[in-house]
Amino acid sequence: MMKTIFSGIQPSGSVTLGNYIGAMKQFIELQHDYHCYFCVVDQHAITSPQDRLALRHNSRSLAALYLAIGIDPEKATLFIQSEVPAHAQAGWMMQCISYIGELERMTQFKDKSAGREAVSSGLLTYPPLMAADILLYGTDLVPVGEDQKQHIELTRDLAERFNKKYNNIFTIPEIRVPKIGARIMSLAEPTRKMSKSDPNPKSFITILDDPKTIEKKIKSAVTDSEGTIRYDKENRPGISNLLSIYSIFTGETMEELEAKYEEKGYGDFKADLAGVVINELSPIQERYYELMESDELDRILDEGAERANRAAGKMLKKMENAMGLGRKRK
Ligand code: TYM
Repeated sequence: MMKTIFSGIQPSGSVTLGNYIGAMKQFIELQHDYHCYFCVVDQHAITSPQDRLALRHNSRSLAALYLAIGIDPEKATLFIQSEVPAHAQAGWMMQCISYIGELERMTQFKDKSAGREAVSSGLLTYPPLMAADILLYGTDLVPVGEDQKQHIELTRDLAERFNKKYNNIFTIPEIRVPKIGARIMSLAEPTRKMSKSDPNPKSFITILDDPKTIEKKIKSAVTDSEGTIRYDKENRPGISNLLSIYSIFTGETMEELEAKYEEKGYGDFKADLAGVVINELSPIQERYYELMESDELDRILDEGAERANRAAGKMLKKMENAMGLGRKRK
């Protein structure tokens, strides 16, 4: 039987090269061999304050990006989380079987709540909603970047807990991270991950950045004073991060790239890398702007919501039966 994949991305601003390399590029390869559900997780986005018009724009924009990178709506189901109410309903049930202690230990929660005066309870209960997203579809495999590892482990724990306590209905999902690029680093501080919420816009490249901006950001990317183009993730995180991006987009290995730039310095290397990134992103951007103008996008999202509602609805009923919610129905 064909296995199932689920993954989600938050529509909270721009989509970075980290999101693209860590998660989205995997989706394109996987859609041919799996039942795929790809989600715009707008309910996760509101765990931090959002402007309503911006959020709506970002949700539509992210859906267009999924398609622009090459997600085929005939093969994969693309939808917006809030248009499938089973996510919130199942999310509540998952909250009721998770413990405050384990949620407080999530590093993303610790990072996002640190130094804030008012932290929404949604930020704490974000992982049980993510578990619901995944478990509703009987997901076998979750392609994500490395930063989501802890959330997937919690999802597995919650699924096992539910299966043991109520009824054995959930598949225990596995994580899938890419071999290279599971953690793309900030261009400004290469020991931290590239993040769309970073206040320094020079630290990340977005899929929609124009060529001039990409050139500028790569030119100002932090490296070191050694001057050689060598991959050494531990000691030389800056140049190693740039090499990873280069390698992923051209398919050249680190050895090939090191040999190619043996006699060259950072200037030449960065200029070439900018070209490589622009080359990768230009066709995506072209398709993206076409899609944003078309009715096709809304048609695809309507159909995606319908398919997702059907699949998720079935599992939701099983969950409600297992926990004794509502009345028995045929
Ligand atoms: P989000 O929106 O922060 O990120 C989307 C995806 O991009 C990956 N990613 C990265 N990969 C490599 N390097 C980076 N610097 C980098 N930054 C982000 C993330 O690992 C992720 O795969 N909680 C999730 C969204 C979510 C979800 C789900 C994912 C909600 N429900 C169910 C999978 C399954 C998140 O905040 O991703």
